[in-house]
Amino acid sequence: MAIQISPSILSADFAHLAAEAEAVADSADWLHVDVMDNHFVPNLTLGLPIVESLLKAATLPLDCHLMIEDPDRWAPAYAEAGAGSVTIHAEAAKAPVRTLRAIRSAGARAGLALNPATPVDPYADLLGEVDMLLVMSVEPGFGGQKFLDLVLPKIRRARELIRNSDAAVWLQVDGGVSAETIERCAEAGADVFVAGSAVYGEKDPAAAVDALRTLAER
Ligand code: DX5
Ligand code: ZN
Repeated sequence: MAIQISPSILSADFAHLAAEAEAVADSADWLHVDVMDNHFVPNLTLGLPIVESLLKAATLPLDCHLMIEDPDRWAPAYAEAGAGSVTIHAEAAKAPVRTLRAIRSAGARAGLALNPATPVDPYADLLGEVDMLLVMSVEPGFGGQKFLDLVLPKIRRARELIRNSDAAVWLQVDGGVSAETIERCAEAGADVFVAGSAVYGEKDPAAAVDALRTLAER
């Protein structure tokens, strides 16, 4: 299981996104982009125009996490724009199978995200439709929140469901991932780690990515 690190630019300086992306270009695997619409979550960040600009400016593939009310309408456009991965929330999608298929047919990896209170078992039959399952380890909306240990059994269960399926699904964890919590997540079975404040809150973001990777790999 290869470990991947996806720094979240939510904790970066939005006035210097190209430079912030460049800072982790040689150490990270993805750049995590949190799209929030102030409806699905109580915060507003950025949308397609900024993603399109970032696609031109950044060398890392973009891992777009859509925390928006109507992913069925918007997700395919992020894939068509060139995002490497587009993740929709199970709680928001009205037609997740159709939307996941649209993301894939536009050439991106399709992700399905679950909030802390959303169980994974009802989505077991959808594993063949997804390339990545995202288990949220905070309530989505803001960076810098405390990791919720209550999601660890769900990460374990998700890994078990993935192992029992024929699908090659990555298991991502997002929220409060840091040098203190990443080992617990890896031990539970996660293999893709989003980290915002634990990367961009550090003086040397690239070194922070390296350190997180080393901890997850042990
Ligand atoms: C939260 C976002 C996360 C956030 C993580 O809703 O989805 O990606 O940027 O930030 P940290 O790592 O600081 O918890
Ligand atoms: Zn996120």
